[in-house]
This record gives sequence, C-alpha cells and structure tokens, in this order.
Amino acid sequence: MTQIVLSLSELDLLPGMRDALRISGRPVPLRGGYRAALRVRRAHANGAPCRAGSGVTILRYVSTRGEAPVLGFSDVLLAGLARDGGLYVPETVPTLSHDDIRALRGLPYAQVATRVMLPFLGGEILEADFARLVEDAYAGFDHKAVTPLRQLDSDLWLLELFHGPTLAFKDVALQLLGRLFDYVLTQRGERVTIVGATSGDTGAAAIEACRDRGAIDIVILHPNGRVSEVQRRQMTTVPSANVHNLAIEGTFDDCQDLVKAMFNDAAFRDEMRLSAVNSINWARIMAQAAYYVYAAVQLGAPDREVRFAVPTGNFGNVYAGYLARQMGLPVAGFAIGTNENDILARFFGADDMSVRPVRPTLSPSMDIQVSSNFERLLFDLYDRDGRATAEAMRGFRETGRLGVGENRWRAAADLIKASGVDDAQTLEEIAATHAATGELLDPHSAIAVRTAREHAIAGIPTIALATAHPAKFPDAVEKATGVRSALPARLADLLEQEERATVLPNDLPAVQGFVRKAARG
Ligand SMILES: Cc1ncc(COP(=O)(O)O)c(C=O)c1O
Repeated sequence: MTQIVLSLSELDLLPGMRDALRISGRPVPLRGGYRAALRVRRAHANGAPCRAGSGVTILRYVSTRGEAPVLGFSDVLLAGLARDGGLYVPETVPTLSHDDIRALRGLPYAQVATRVMLPFLGGEILEADFARLVEDAYAGFDHKAVTPLRQLDSDLWLLELFHGPTLAFKDVALQLLGRLFDYVLTQRGERVTIVGATSGDTGAAAIEACRDRGAIDIVILHPNGRVSEVQRRQMTTVPSANVHNLAIEGTFDDCQDLVKAMFNDAAFRDEMRLSAVNSINWARIMAQAAYYVYAAVQLGAPDREVRFAVPTGNFGNVYAGYLARQMGLPVAGFAIGTNENDILARFFGADDMSVRPVRPTLSPSMDIQVSSNFERLLFDLYDRDGRATAEAMRGFRETGRLGVGENRWRAAADLIKASGVDDAQTLEEIAATHAATGELLDPHSAIAVRTAREHAIAGIPTIALATAHPAKFPDAVEKATGVRSALPARLADLLEQEERATVLPNDLPAVQGFVRKAARG
C-alpha cells in the first residue's frame, strides 16, 4: 500500500495537493492507500504521547471490549457502536501542554474547538477543511461566544450550551457531526440513511444536523401525540427533502423497537446503508470536550484549576469533561447530578450500581437507568483491559448490578462526586437561582447548579453546565418562578409553520416500506 507521508510544512507548501489527489474530478479520501499521514512530531515518533494543538497525530481507535477491529477516525465516525458491542476510544489520548492551553486564550470558540479536536482525526481530514466544517457548524448559534459563561455567584458559573438551532446542548456536537458525516461520505462516494427514534429532543437536534446534506437521508420516528408541541414542530416543520418524520401510533418504546428491528435485519440494514448518530458516537464526545476547554481557559486555565458540575443521564457529557482532563486540562474534579433515576449518583456516592425501574421526572432527558457512555470510564478503571470490561458489562447485564471492587470505585469516587436531585429540589433551585440572579434555568440545568452548590470547594470556581434553554421546559420553569420563558425570536413563528409527518401504525413492514422510499439510493 502506498503511503504518502508529508510534514505539516510540506503540506503548507503544497496548496495544490488536494487537487493532485483528485481522480476523475472526485476527491480521493486522505485515507487508505492515499492517506496523507501527517508526520508526527519527533517527540511522538519517539514514543511520547501525541500532542494536541500540533495538528499532527496518527491515532487509532480501539473498542472498550477489545474484540472489534481497530479503526481510524472516519470509520469510527460512521460505525458508531463497535462490532463487539463496545464503544470506541482512542488508543492514546492526545495531550495539551500548558503552553498549548495558554495559546487558546482569546481565540473564538470555533478556533479553540478546532485545535482541541484536530488530533482526534488522526490526519484523515485536512486541517483547513476541518476548520471550515467547525466554523460552519457554529456559525448558526445565536450567541457570538457559542457557549457563553455567566457568573451566578462568587465561585459559581453557568456554561450556556443551548444557543444552537434546537436550544439543547446536543446541537454543539450534532451540528458538527452532520457535517462530518456528509464530508466523509462525499469523499468516499457513499451515502447513508440515518434512522432514529426520539421522545422529542434528540430527533430535533439530529434533523437540524442532517437537513440538506447531500449524502444523508434521515428518518426519525416519534410516538404520535406523545411529544410536546414545540418538540414535534421542531422536527416536522423542517422543509428539507432529505428529512422524513414518522409519527408512529404507539409509544416511544415501540419506536425504539422498530428502529432496533430495522438494524437487526442485516439485509435491510445493508441495502439501506442504515446509520445512527446516537450518543455513543465518539465524534460527539470529542466535540463536547471542546467546550470544557473553552470555558476553563476563560476562567484562567491552565494557571487556575476549575471544577465542573454536569447533569447526567447517559454519562456522555461528563465523560467529555473527563476526556478534556485526560488531555491535560487542569480540572480539580467533577460533580454530577441525576434526577430521581439516580443509578449514577448511587454508584459514585455509595458503590451501588443497581438498576431500578425508570420513573418520569421534570428532567425527562435524564430518565435513564443504564448509562451507555459509562462503559468508557469503566474501561479506564480496568486499566484499559477490554476483556475485563466486557466481563464486567456482561455481569451487569445479567444481574442488574455492577461491582468494580473497592480500589476502582475509590479512584472513580475521588474524582467524581454525585447527587440525586428530586423534582421538589429541582423546582427549589430554579426559584432560588431566579430570585438571586434573574437567570431562568431549565430543570436539567437546575440539577447541575444544585449539584455544584452541594459539592463546592472554596476557592475553586465551579462551572455548571446548562444543557437546555428554559423555553424547552416552560411549565416547570413557570411553576417554580411564575415566569413563562419565551422562545427566542428566530423560533417565534414555529407554531405557525406548516408541518410534514407521515402517520403509520406500529408495524415493521410498513415502516420499512417508508424507509425504502425515503432513501434516495
Ligand atoms: C437537556 C439534557 N440535559 C442533560 C442530559 C444528560 O446528558 P448525558 O446523557 O450526556 O449524560 C441530556 C441527555 O439527553 C439532555 O437532553
């Protein structure tokens, strides 16, 4: 196999290189036989960990269960879940030196994000192309800072992650993910049909991320009449030809079962080239790590330590913070907040990871018992031993209880403090923060703020993550404060726009027939 190896300076000197790598007018992906493996810094070549900020890494991804093929970034992006049921993680985590972090001061969000993420691409996407994708992903956010920080108290800050098109933190990762999918697929001359089930939020963010992308068709199933009007309209008013909404006569679980059945039908899956953008996709974690770095730098990193308080369900968001810390960001620790579905709070608080039935709460996006991204932390707790991680996961699945042993638990609990916050406490926090600062918190963000207060350490600033705009949960906000949060002006006409959705029974052949027609082949 031919490998073209160019140093960064050579690449800079060869602006026509990409054209030279075009065959029949089609761009050739910089991977496989034509991979432009960017020369790794001498330090890395000598065995030192690869450095973020340098833009030059060769990185491979391994599964947390150790049995799936080792892949490069683009394949990990498209694969989502590993073939052995595990989750992909980088073989070696790129690092940021204190000088690299200092050099981020004053840069706009997109540039910070590009520098943080670049090493994870392993040279498979050219820096200039990637920088353009990142710039474009965040250009539509309605705040110039993309993820602005607000001070709530002397040592307490709020990181607002809800300024994207669907008013949820998921936009930060998904706006980039849609563009990355499109870029990689176009280079390969391939296309996919993304299929997903939603109880509201994720579907809207995924549709916004994939709309009008030439290499993608997207079909989102929601339970007919069982999502809020705002959530439904955020999905059904998107006029793009590649966006398809299915309102299924059934529950969210029925929608999920239909999606699972389509993925389990191997012939159908291959024929339609089904793909997913769910929260276990590595690219989502990588994109979220960027806002941890951006926020910490604003508060003085690397010369001052910070803490983060994160509302958690699937453990994806807090794992992204853990990744930023592994890269070298000076994070003194994390506080995570769950709602009454408190399996993670029980684990970090008392080494009790046992599944209980899911209960509905005011923070529905965290009504979860099995947190899929937790497996990535588990892999590290087991010293990156795939077999041991797989064994632990098997035990958890069979018994509904995870035991990791005293030493591993202590290592995790020393770094991550946790609280379970019930609905009454959530409302109390929304009211108290509003009274003290005028800030309206949605219930998920209120759990973060409450948790930040409970685990505060004097002298170390805590950054609480605000994951949804208060207007997405107006009833809870109004109940706590008497104030009804209004949708931002750009969404003000949402309630008047024309909707497009097809109602179908809970019937697999009917849904498969629809997907077959929707996929443009
Ligand atoms: C608004 C909101 N907050 C918090 C979370 C929890 O994030 P994670 O699942 O990454 O832990 C979610 C997840 O869907 C969410 O939608």
